[in-house]
Amino acid sequence: MTPGANRNCAGVVSVHKEEAMDWGMKNRMQRIFKDDGKAVMLAVDHGYFLGPVSRLEEPRKTIEPLIPYADSLMLTRGMLRNCIDPKYNIPLVLRVSGGNSILGKDLSNEGITVSFEDAIRLNVAAVALSIYVGTDHEHQTLINLTKLIDEGQKYGIPVLAVTAVGKELEKRDCRYLSLSCRIAAELGAHIIKTYYCEDFEKVIKSCPAPVVIAGGPKLKNELDALKMAYEAVSAGAKGVDMGRNIWQSRWSVAMISAIRSIVHEKASLKKAYNLFNSLKNKSN
Ligand code: 5RP
Repeated sequence: MTPGANRNCAGVVSVHKEEAMDWGMKNRMQRIFKDDGKAVMLAVDHGYFLGPVSRLEEPRKTIEPLIPYADSLMLTRGMLRNCIDPKYNIPLVLRVSGGNSILGKDLSNEGITVSFEDAIRLNVAAVALSIYVGTDHEHQTLINLTKLIDEGQKYGIPVLAVTAVGKELEKRDCRYLSLSCRIAAELGAHIIKTYYCEDFEKVIKSCPAPVVIAGGPKLKNELDALKMAYEAVSAGAKGVDMGRNIWQSRWSVAMISAIRSIVHEKASLKKAYNLFNSLKNKSN
């Protein structure tokens, strides 16, 4: 047999290891992006630099009721091991970067915080890290990304890059986000998480990898958050990877249900908001 060739259980010889791994990569992507190619990812990784952020002080209490409505969970390994029952068959997007806190000078100084071996042990569908384009740690975070992508390619695990802005929320404009998203895609990120902004279709058009949006800090009300999700998906986002605008809502189940209707059922903003209100009223 050719060196490196493997015989599978049906006796078929596969010479290209990568080919076998590609199936895993595709399968994991399809676990995250459902049959319609869209994804409702629930981000609960905030504690890695924000600590016990409001409404996530007791993670299990906040997260468990939302699990049936989320296509995947984005979180840290500490949260996963301590707060998520292994009985749940939900795809996991593991945050593997960090090393700083909201009290520190610079949020961009991130390293890789989890070995690939441990990510595999946790049965992840993808790993996630932040990149900080235009900061003092631009190079370091982009190299973190490329190292993870090389590992991801080896094991068939997609890498999600978050185009992070740290404390500089005003950076969230079309020019900056297009630059960051495109760089992440050029370096090989399989999924890109960015912020919604004006002219968002330009960000999407110039980014060849699938894009999902973060929600950012909690908006004034649920309608504003639904509008953001609606406009992002209408502009071509493949879904959302939202946190605070879902679980900081008093009606978090109603909120994630309304988001689902936008992402997976092509609901209009009005229809999604009506759904939110009817579920909210039932839960009162
Ligand atoms: C910051 C992150 C977050 O911790 C989180 O995933 C963002 O979610 P949201 O902004 O919707 O609360 O990735 O870079």
